[in-house]
Amino acid sequence: MNLNAIETSTKGLSFGITPYSVTIGGEVDGIDLREPLSDEQVEDLRWALLDRKVLFFRNQNISTEQHLEFARNFGDLEVHPFAPHKEGHPEDMAITHDKNRPGAENGWHSDVTWRLEPSLGSILRCLESPPIGGDTLFSDMYAAYENLPEAVREKVEGKFAVHDFEGFRVRLRAQGASEEQMAEFDETYPNPEHPVIRTHPETGRKGIYVNAAFTKFIIGMDKAESDDILETLYQQASYPEYQCRFRWEKNSIAFWDNRACQHYATSDYWPYNRSVERVTIIGDKPYYEKGGPITMRDESPFRGRIKRQRKEPGPSLFKA
Ligand code: SIN
Repeated sequence: MNLNAIETSTKGLSFGITPYSVTIGGEVDGIDLREPLSDEQVEDLRWALLDRKVLFFRNQNISTEQHLEFARNFGDLEVHPFAPHKEGHPEDMAITHDKNRPGAENGWHSDVTWRLEPSLGSILRCLESPPIGGDTLFSDMYAAYENLPEAVREKVEGKFAVHDFEGFRVRLRAQGASEEQMAEFDETYPNPEHPVIRTHPETGRKGIYVNAAFTKFIIGMDKAESDDILETLYQQASYPEYQCRFRWEKNSIAFWDNRACQHYATSDYWPYNRSVERVTIIGDKPYYEKGGPITMRDESPFRGRIKRQRKEPGPSLFKA
């Protein structure tokens, strides 16, 4: 089965969509997020999100309330316990960078995997973009999984890994959190064990579900082997073939599926300002199921020097 086909363009959706790359990203056209969405629009957006993994919107001059309302069409919203939020709106996480607070989200990750039930998806709205830079990249975790070397896939199928809110610990301590407060956080947010390869609850497809920001180790492996395998899995996100890249403008929105992709906010715009707000939709407990749909390797669009299962080395960079 070729799951990489761009199905959105032929589905007959109630809005237009322009794909950003072969398997990931699509810009939605013909929806005004200041208006309540119809059931048909919500259903089509869900479908497009599952297919494209991240949807982009332009020129959406919406209020915070409209941002929250849009997100509530897709589930309940979480309150981030460690990150700042917009005054009076605890579900609206404010991510603000400027000369004194340079960008820090430049690591591949899926949101809040340190939770027992991590996020379904996140909706990010741009209030101010730098004159150049500050793009966000997204990487397709199904493609990353399907193109792993066979030996690595065999090692990680059915394995679980421990996640932790480590980056926030550093920040909390720097903000003066006491050891008692840290112990309370540990109790409220115990380290979850999530499958290394996650079955998507809606598509049934499998994708890599470990990330460099929050995953600590793979259970049942010694440290050296776990570090080595995790490094290989993290590396998969960095192949441009599996990615798309979004250039922000004021009033742009990105809506991504945290169960199917990872993201990386480039931090190349200092000393300029970049201000975005994120609303995060609560997801369910990740699980792994053997089998499920997969793109056959001979139908994969990804060729050349990608390190996947291959008997002979890939072609030279410069020859056909
Ligand atoms: C995030 O990591 O959730 C923020 C991404 C961004 O600022 O582009």
